[in-house]
Amino acid sequence: NEIYLQGYGGTAPAFTTDATMLEDSAAKVMAPEPFWYVAGAAGSGATNRANREAFDRWKIVPRMLTGATERDLSTTVLGTPMPAPVLLAPVGVQSIVHPDAERATARAASGLGLPVILSTASSTSIEDVAAASGEGPRWFQLYWPDDPEVCGSILRRAKESGYTALVVTLDTWTLAWRPCDLDSGYLPFLKGEGMAVALTDPVFRSRLDRAPEDDLPSAVLRWIGMITGIDRAWDALPFLREHWDGPIVLKGIQHVDDARRAVDAGMDGVVVSNHGGRQVDGAVASLDALPEIVAAVGDRIEVLFDSGIRTGADVLKALALGARAVLLGRPYVYGLAHGGEDGVRHVLRSLLADFDLTMGLSGHRRVAELSGSVLRKA
Ligand code: FNR
Repeated sequence: NEIYLQGYGGTAPAFTTDATMLEDSAAKVMAPEPFWYVAGAAGSGATNRANREAFDRWKIVPRMLTGATERDLSTTVLGTPMPAPVLLAPVGVQSIVHPDAERATARAASGLGLPVILSTASSTSIEDVAAASGEGPRWFQLYWPDDPEVCGSILRRAKESGYTALVVTLDTWTLAWRPCDLDSGYLPFLKGEGMAVALTDPVFRSRLDRAPEDDLPSAVLRWIGMITGIDRAWDALPFLREHWDGPIVLKGIQHVDDARRAVDAGMDGVVVSNHGGRQVDGAVASLDALPEIVAAVGDRIEVLFDSGIRTGADVLKALALGARAVLLGRPYVYGLAHGGEDGVRHVLRSLLADFDLTMGLSGHRRVAELSGSVLRKA
């Protein structure tokens, strides 16, 4: 309401309320390497573009005189109540974007009651982000180390720090071919960025010959070796059940058979995601993968969605196609670049206000009212 009333009342915000413009404006306030690390995608960027184009193929058909001037957008996802069906996607190494990094993001999310999903590749420890998030809802994203005791230790810390759900990312067992980063010779992890979870873990530290304070490069390589290139199959999932007593969600699902396998493996949810087009160039747009997955498993597990969400209309469309909630990626990171915690808050509030208005003006009072019938395929 505030942004809306101020904007129409003649007071412009610090930076744009249009998330489709944020990338251009972030390019002006960020150094080139971090900017391209965030904005970049796999290969030619075809999947990154396809993610956006897929939203354009669905059109909302507004309804009138439905009493939608008053709305309640709240929902509950995997036991977590939230004021709107929006979560902050796990994004690693936020220290390359702003010195307050994940703490700023967690504070902004917590102030609005939106869940933040902390990345294993974060530049802030599990405990410090929990402190910043305070009473706010928080989930933890796992890049799964192949050392079971290190993995168990990280999961224990997350649980003890109040993270309620576990998001296991499957699509990034190694980094994709990302020409933006290859061409600038940029990988933040090699400089020790995005290593906070590992470096503060007592079991990981016990695996090292020398303290990371004395020999950072070998600690970095040891950690990268633990989380990349690991050959795992579906029969590995029970390990997570044994070490995590809350809901578990598999992130990076695009094929309907993989969604079915997630159900068979006793998982609680999936995130239909292609990592914002950062892994398989030429892969199907994430939104195009959503309806079939919802039809196959939506009555048994919770189906979340990400990759390409920028506007309120995008949120509405993903929900109408069956997502329980959406994850927002790059836009809030650009907000962080523009103004730390305030910048993230501005991006989140703009998205929530846009979604709320789009719901109202298209005639919907509650997210439960959304279904495929509110859309038409263009
Ligand atoms: C990511 N993403 C990601 N995912 C994850 O599971 N763990 C991680 O550490 C990261 N790190 C990360 C860094 C950066 C810079 C970006 C842009 C993305 C993927 C993220 O969670 C999400 O799937 C996508 O960002 C969603 O697409 P959009 O909203 O960016 O289009």
